[in-house]
Amino acid sequence: MSYFRPNIEAMEGYTPGEQPEDPSVIKLNTNENPYPPSPAVMKAVAGVQAEQLRRYPHPQGNLFRDAAAKIFGVKRENIICGNGMDDILNMTVRAFSGPEAALVYPVPTYTLYGVLATIEASIVKEVPFPPDFSLPIEGLVNARGRVTYLANPNSPTGTFVPAEQIGKLADALEGVLCIDEAYVDFARENCLELARTRPNVLVMRTLSKGYSLAGLRFGFAIGHENLIRGLMKVKDSYNVDAIAIAAATAAIQDQAYFEQTRQKVISERKRLSAALDRLGLRCLPSESNFLLAACGQPTARELYASLKARRILVRYFDYPGLNDKLRITVGTPEQNDALVAALTDLCRR
Ligand SMILES: Cc1ncc(COP(=O)(O)O)c(C=O)c1O
Repeated sequence: MSYFRPNIEAMEGYTPGEQPEDPSVIKLNTNENPYPPSPAVMKAVAGVQAEQLRRYPHPQGNLFRDAAAKIFGVKRENIICGNGMDDILNMTVRAFSGPEAALVYPVPTYTLYGVLATIEASIVKEVPFPPDFSLPIEGLVNARGRVTYLANPNSPTGTFVPAEQIGKLADALEGVLCIDEAYVDFARENCLELARTRPNVLVMRTLSKGYSLAGLRFGFAIGHENLIRGLMKVKDSYNVDAIAIAAATAAIQDQAYFEQTRQKVISERKRLSAALDRLGLRCLPSESNFLLAACGQPTARELYASLKARRILVRYFDYPGLNDKLRITVGTPEQNDALVAALTDLCRR
């Protein structure tokens, strides 16, 4: 006898990337930013008063909403805050899908979508990306989702679909289109204009990647007032804490620091991709802060294990279509050099 609902009993939970306890490990496995957050963030955290912790935080995180509204050219009513983007994803799945409703996304992609859908007992419809990872518009529209998810740039591929294509998809869909822009800070364009102009588009962002705040847990979504109003009903009452609101507001306001960090990651991505290519590890064109490198001999699994033994962590996915590749986060120049040196040695043997 199980105490759980049958779908919970039957499902596998989400498997997060490894978080090693040893801080000296070169950690290129979960797409964190290799640079620290803005000094303004640390100042804001230090400035949090005891009184702010004694009280409940603002239920909607309005300090952040107002700061972000200014930066993204929308109103406070167009923004909802979350305890990381995962919290936003959870809200959207609960709000838009539900038992018997179709939830659609192209694959391969972020595996959490399927996990959250299974918890809600939604009908999951996975539409394969074509080999060039262009947008399978027809397949996605024909799947007739109550809600459709699209990570752009996608993970774990790092590939990118132009906003104009996504606009066509949004217009053809009957349901909501949730665009996961976790990695958009490293891409050439974004879909904010679609969120500003379409009633069925929600753009979801995180401060975990471009703003170096994965440990803080802060994400947000931008969309039509109606979408945001509905999501507010579903969220936890105080889903972002007082420290997170203060830190996230400081981070989003320091756009000069953000721009600097982002450029450093983009230029290292180019350098690392070229170095991996020279080793015969071909990378897909990436607009994110990671690369998906195809391996031959040694195999991806062997390289993952050998790198781990040398205290370098990268991500290996044991799934069909991905188990011959490694997903490698772009690190600092020193980290990337250490990775390339280790790979050069391993590939030569
Ligand atoms: C595609 C994608 N979406 C969302 C997230 C979740 O971001 P957060 O750290 O804000 O929960 C991640 C995290 O790695 C991701 O890869």
